[in-house]
Amino acid sequence: MRVGLSYDLKEAVILKDAVPDDALEEYDSPTTIEYIKSALEGIGHSVVKLGGGTEFILNILQEKVDIVFNISEGRGNYRSREAQVPSILEMLDIPYIGSDPQCLAICLDKALTKKLIVQAGIPTPAWRMITSLKELSAMSWQGFPFPAIVKPAYEGSSKGVHHNSLVDNQKQVIETVAEMLETYSQPVLVEQFIDGDEITVGVIGNSPPKVLGIMRILPRKNNNRFVYTVEVKRDWKNLVDYECPAHLNEKTKDKINSYSLKVFGVLECRDFSRIDFRVSADGMPYMLEINPLPGLGDYSDLVIMATKLGWKHEELIASVFSAALERHPLCVQR
Ligand SMILES: Nc1ncnc2c1ncn2[C@@H]1O[C@H](COP(=O)(O)OP(=O)(O)OP(=O)(O)O)[C@@H](O)[C@H]1O
Ligand SMILES: [Mg+2]
Repeated sequence: MRVGLSYDLKEAVILKDAVPDDALEEYDSPTTIEYIKSALEGIGHSVVKLGGGTEFILNILQEKVDIVFNISEGRGNYRSREAQVPSILEMLDIPYIGSDPQCLAICLDKALTKKLIVQAGIPTPAWRMITSLKELSAMSWQGFPFPAIVKPAYEGSSKGVHHNSLVDNQKQVIETVAEMLETYSQPVLVEQFIDGDEITVGVIGNSPPKVLGIMRILPRKNNNRFVYTVEVKRDWKNLVDYECPAHLNEKTKDKINSYSLKVFGVLECRDFSRIDFRVSADGMPYMLEINPLPGLGDYSDLVIMATKLGWKHEELIASVFSAALERHPLCVQR
């Protein structure tokens, strides 16, 4: 097949003046694009690089492709940015891999996702969403279960999650939320901190979707309040170990398995996703968030997971690709 590859390179994104140093964190490097391109070529397809933003729009109107392998994060800090490329592809009636705009837009909004998850009976940490300084100043923190994590509501790649995101009291939470509102220009989520195992789960396929693996992320230095911050993700080779399959008790693993599939279904994800959990000391998994557009570069958690399970990168790409082909032309997989 002639496959279009849509993506957003860090170097293609023009930044405004005062942006945080992790502003480009989610975007990809040329190495990742080549890695995915050669995996697609390795399974017999020809690949046309479409790029992102305006370049993508110009290219998709000119190139004749059978399907688009989309890893584009979208532009701006809009909560529906991941839906930009799939929306254009739907308008042009071009098939693409991965979830649809509605799913992508919901999942990037962490609070909205949590509301749906709670309704489905899946545990997620207690939270508050703050949209302005005015709202923050009127808020009482009495009874909120500290410690808490403060994070931007519409981000990925741990953007905005630094060591000072972990707060222990009212004074710290107010200071951190105020700073984050200004730095990231979007609502801020304050979430009960679950001090326990950091878990990420890969789900692949549609009918039915299957758990690829459950991976535990372990800090190298003994750290009883581990946070998988942007700094840790950048220096993962030195700071963490990945364990997959995760050594957890059977009961906890069963819960993680069934919650993951339920979350994937409730949000109507397609083809693949990665779901993050923290497991409390009593073995209860709490869902933090779902990534229907998880990274597929060599440093990405899903790729590390697949490698630990003995898959080649090419096999991972092939299985996501064939999941998309199998469901096509169905718009929404039910
Ligand atoms: N409620 C919480 N309890 C404990 N740790 C948390 C909590 N919320 C976030 N964290 C820590 O912060 C990290 C980043 O949070 P989260 O997964 O929500 O952000 P993200 O930027 O969407 O991540 P991704 O890179 O997976 O897209 C988590 O992996 C975890 O280590
Ligand atoms: Mg995450």
